[in-house]
Amino acid sequence: MAKADYIISLIKLHYNNEPERFTTAALQIAAHEAKLGHTLVANEIKTIIDKAKETKHKNKAFAPDLQGLILENVPAVNLADMIASEDIKTKINRIISEFVQRDKLRKHDLENRRKILLSGPPGTGKTLTASIIANELNLPLYTILMDKMVTKFMGETSAKLRQVFDLIEQKQGIYLFDEFDAIGGERSRDNDVGEMRRVLNSFLQFIERDNSDSLIIAITNNKDFWTKPFSAGLTM
Ligand SMILES: Nc1ncnc2c1ncn2[C@@H]1O[C@H](COP(=O)(O)OP(=O)(O)O)[C@@H](O)[C@H]1O
Ligand SMILES: [Mg+2]
Repeated sequence: MAKADYIISLIKLHYNNEPERFTTAALQIAAHEAKLGHTLVANEIKTIIDKAKETKHKNKAFAPDLQGLILENVPAVNLADMIASEDIKTKINRIISEFVQRDKLRKHDLENRRKILLSGPPGTGKTLTASIIANELNLPLYTILMDKMVTKFMGETSAKLRQVFDLIEQKQGIYLFDEFDAIGGERSRDNDVGEMRRVLNSFLQFIERDNSDSLIIAITNNKDFWTKPFSAGLTM
């Protein structure tokens, strides 16, 4: 293709809003330039494309129907800021280092501990621990607002949860279900209790099935309530 034809086809793809075909066309141009011996031009085009892909991945927004149900933040607390026994610090460190070396573990058919249950009385650093893990791993912390989800989507909470777990799969991060089992609480009416039990069951099933590269942290005040799917438990 002549240069003018390439330009025309790029302009068309841009205005037709066809980003994938736009990228393919740009890559073809890079290949064409490389063939002509224009290595610098070819490399520049490839660099632009790679960079655009990275940013797109980073900025992938939540599905619109999850907006307002998940908080995103990038915490700035370190393990050194935490007052805790050596035992707890060791356990937190182990979660962090296993995550970093998860590929190595996988080669030996092992899985890093990435489904974490934190329990203990209020004010003992459970939420803090989630922030520390996110910060030490340099990943965003996503807090799922279960309370909002349940009140807003009564009856369809499990469907919403499925969307959350799809996101966990697609977007690597630390996902925090803070005091998950406290939702409803005293305010709940009788029929809410049945709904809550259903939600909790599907929550545990989703956790069990999850096979993502994210880390899931669930916080509860009542650890007796919980069963199998977790790979590590920390009691504050
Ligand atoms: N072990 C701890 N070391 C340092 N600060 C702590 C510790 N536990 C709690 N805090 C501080 O107390 C406040 C409440 O802690 P938080 O993690 O929200 O408690 P929890 O989630 O267990 O109720 C936060 O400001 C936190 O920084
Ligand atoms: Mg807390």
